[in-house]
Amino acid sequence: MLNDLNKIAKDTNFFLKHYLKKQKYSVLTSAMNYGLFPGGKKIRSKILVDIGKIFNINYNSLVVIGAAVECIHAYSLIHDDLPCMDNDLIRRGKPSTHTKFGEAIAVLAGNSLLTLAFEILSDKRLNLKEKTKNILINKLSKCAGHAGIAGGQFLDLDFEKKNIPFKKIINMQLKKTGKLFGYCSSVPAIIKNNGVKKINTFETIGSDIGLLFQITDDLIDYKGNSKKVGKKTKKDIKLGKATLISLLGYKKTVIYGEKLKIKIQKKIMKYGKKSKNLNETINYIMKRTR
Ligand code: IPE
Ligand code: IPE
Ligand code: MG
Ligand code: MG
Ligand code: MG
Repeated sequence: MLNDLNKIAKDTNFFLKHYLKKQKYSVLTSAMNYGLFPGGKKIRSKILVDIGKIFNINYNSLVVIGAAVECIHAYSLIHDDLPCMDNDLIRRGKPSTHTKFGEAIAVLAGNSLLTLAFEILSDKRLNLKEKTKNILINKLSKCAGHAGIAGGQFLDLDFEKKNIPFKKIINMQLKKTGKLFGYCSSVPAIIKNNGVKKINTFETIGSDIGLLFQITDDLIDYKGNSKKVGKKTKKDIKLGKATLISLLGYKKTVIYGEKLKIKIQKKIMKYGKKSKNLNETINYIMKRTR
């Protein structure tokens, strides 16, 4: 599992590095590079490749789509760390982008990474039918905007220091993190031109994986070690974030996560051997310490 993840990370970084190198250098591209590399775990790309395996999708196309997704993810992290949001000084084991470049450049580098994602998806190097690409672009736009990451991030901030009921916390986490995972998960069915039903089934599986991923991120914030995680921990309590932990406590959140994991694994079981890698990734998400 870790070997696969490392390979996907390497291939994605290789693509992104070359893609950025071909663009005109500026302070902004330098800040974009800083936000992208050496980079994170590339778990969203892993989900793409794992589900791509179930649908027999060409690996190279998935790397390009994963690169676009990682640009949106990197943008969301740069903005997430800004003083007006979570106000974090450390990200991926180094000073966060605004700490290094200042707030204005961090905002603009974030914006530029967001649009870079769509530049990549519409690029000739992504060897898919124009119609398919159009659907992929349309769907990714929706996952990133007010109905997805941005909307979820707003709720995350709006919910600080308030008593928020269970359903609303889950909904917020599904938006800020679940949507992008749902996207990754639905891409292979879209490429295969499968019907809406299949696409939606996989989108739901992906959203749940994203929810599980956010829950484990919250668990790591509660219990993890800053050095190992590469970002400051124990921040959610300090900021009064509404999480399952703040509502139910640590133990009950672990139990909820375990149940959610089993629910997801039951859904993918019917794909037999082809879902082995995805199954491993889900186990990894639950067990991860960073
Ligand atoms: C962190 O995401 C933010 C969340 C959505 C929980 P990752 O844990 O995937 O961050 P990197 O890319 O590995 O740094
Ligand atoms: C961020 O969630 C989710 C995003 C969509 C960026 P967090 O605020 O918990 O992420 P970390 O812990 O700072 O990485
Ligand atoms: Mg946040
Ligand atoms: Mg944060
Ligand atoms: Mg967190």
